[in-house]
Amino acid sequence: MMDFYKSIVYFCILSSIFVKSLVLGAKVRHFKWEVGYIHWSPDGLEGVVLGINGKFPGPTIRARAGDTVHVELTSHLHTEGVVIHWHGIRQIGTPWADGTAAISQCAINPGETFVYRFEVDKAGTYFYHGHYGMQRSAGLYGSLIVDVAEGEKEPFLYDGEFNILLSDWWHKSSHEQEVDLSSNPMRWIGEPQTLLINGRGQYNCSLAAAHFSNSSVSQCNIRGGEQYAPQILHVHPNKTYRLRIASTTALASLNLAIGNHKMVVVEADGNYLQPFSVENMDIYSGESYSVLFTTDQNPSNNYWISISVRGREPRTPQGLTILKYHPNSASKLPKSPPPVAPQWNDYNYSKSFTNKILALTGSPKPPTTYNRRIMLLNTQNLIDGYTKWAINNVSLVLPATPYLGSIKFGLSNAFDRKTPPDHFSQDYDVMRPAPNQNSSYGSGVYMLSFNTTIDVILQNANALRENVSEIHPWHLHGHDFWVLGYGEGKFSKKDEEKFNLKNPPLRNTAVIFPFGWTALRFVADNPGVWAFHCHIEPHLHMGMGVIFAEGVGRVKKIPNEALGCGLTGKMLMNNGHK
Ligand code: C2O
Ligand code: CU
Repeated sequence: MMDFYKSIVYFCILSSIFVKSLVLGAKVRHFKWEVGYIHWSPDGLEGVVLGINGKFPGPTIRARAGDTVHVELTSHLHTEGVVIHWHGIRQIGTPWADGTAAISQCAINPGETFVYRFEVDKAGTYFYHGHYGMQRSAGLYGSLIVDVAEGEKEPFLYDGEFNILLSDWWHKSSHEQEVDLSSNPMRWIGEPQTLLINGRGQYNCSLAAAHFSNSSVSQCNIRGGEQYAPQILHVHPNKTYRLRIASTTALASLNLAIGNHKMVVVEADGNYLQPFSVENMDIYSGESYSVLFTTDQNPSNNYWISISVRGREPRTPQGLTILKYHPNSASKLPKSPPPVAPQWNDYNYSKSFTNKILALTGSPKPPTTYNRRIMLLNTQNLIDGYTKWAINNVSLVLPATPYLGSIKFGLSNAFDRKTPPDHFSQDYDVMRPAPNQNSSYGSGVYMLSFNTTIDVILQNANALRENVSEIHPWHLHGHDFWVLGYGEGKFSKKDEEKFNLKNPPLRNTAVIFPFGWTALRFVADNPGVWAFHCHIEPHLHMGMGVIFAEGVGRVKKIPNEALGCGLTGKMLMNNGHK
């Protein structure tokens, strides 16, 4: 009798799996990756980068919405751990696969293998990157593109597509950068030597040298070396193309343009936008976009695609590649000079671009009220002479035991029990350096009640030096949030009246402008522990982040491989699992 029921149950399970794959065509996409340091020339100068399967950048993952991505990652590093974060993928039901060291999992040890298995539930342009120490700066990144499910359609049409991943590159190793940043006094890493497009850049020469009056810049060969020759975009006249763009820069805010061509912005961070047309666009670290462009210009010419530094005084030449119209030769350089980016400190320009980003009609709307509002003051501080970034006066230090395991198993003492503050002093003057620049280290967690609506007000302030306030692109793991608004100066209750509840864009990354604030709203409906941090790698390294946790009791069985360190590691050992 029992067997009869069992077989019915099995039949149901099997047929539901069968039906799911039959109806949606959902697939498991298998990847076997080996990560290790390799010699590479991202900009013509050889250095050491973190590569995957012997290449830089890592391979592009391509899947359809509803597919399962299965990456078997083996570490060939000799002296440090490694993890990979899937930026923009919410990890619904698989919070242990988020790839954040000390937060969602233990770092993968040298020689060990870890399996990342998760569903990509939403079409869009995403990427992945290292999330341990400064391994993203070391070059551990690649693209992750999710197409719409079989039979579904995008809300726009195009004839072909390209994908470009933007990054910045230093000749100083990420390890040396890490030591510099953690020194007393702090040694700043400075500006990047080169901007990279799909991991390719030109150092000490320019593709556009012919257009510069000072002939000290030498012309670089378009065919360059195999590892750093620019990736050329081959187009046919009178077609519409989708250009997917993502930025995984360590520091640089960028402005992208295609010479002579307008772009229509249609997607941001895996969410559709109300289309709008621009001549160039800002893109901050952690953001991704899709734009459409039409090849309606004189087809006997080729055109520049340029990226330029914004938000910091540029000391890095533009990153360039070429839009090549068929049948022109690729070595035919564009007639006109590369596009000129807006002034690096023209923040009004950036704000007007940002304010054009609105959700496509019919997109999910935010709840009209919130349950809890968390105000986060961003400051630069000194702790015993060490330069740090702090949020409500707490500079984040990650604990030895990853939060996901320690919270799930109720291991007290794994991190600061004291919850970090929801507010900062009402009379804090965000326009001046803090009167008391001291702050403290902390590893506390914002425990969010499951399924409640959370508002976050990110409040920028003056940094240590007078009249300095920097751009910070904040990225949330495990969620998209609605961006309800941006404003100048200190946020006040009356700013709420101007919140956009009608068509705010859903995103996973949003910038705070110098001396300004940004208001976000999300629903804490994804069981797990999620990092929320500035996506500028050195800032995160200097403590610029917080930890959110919600519904951890509902998290299903965390794989032991994610728990084998710190107190959870000991726990497994005592339970005889290891
Ligand atoms: Cu793309 Cu926590 O980062
Ligand atoms: Cu920052």
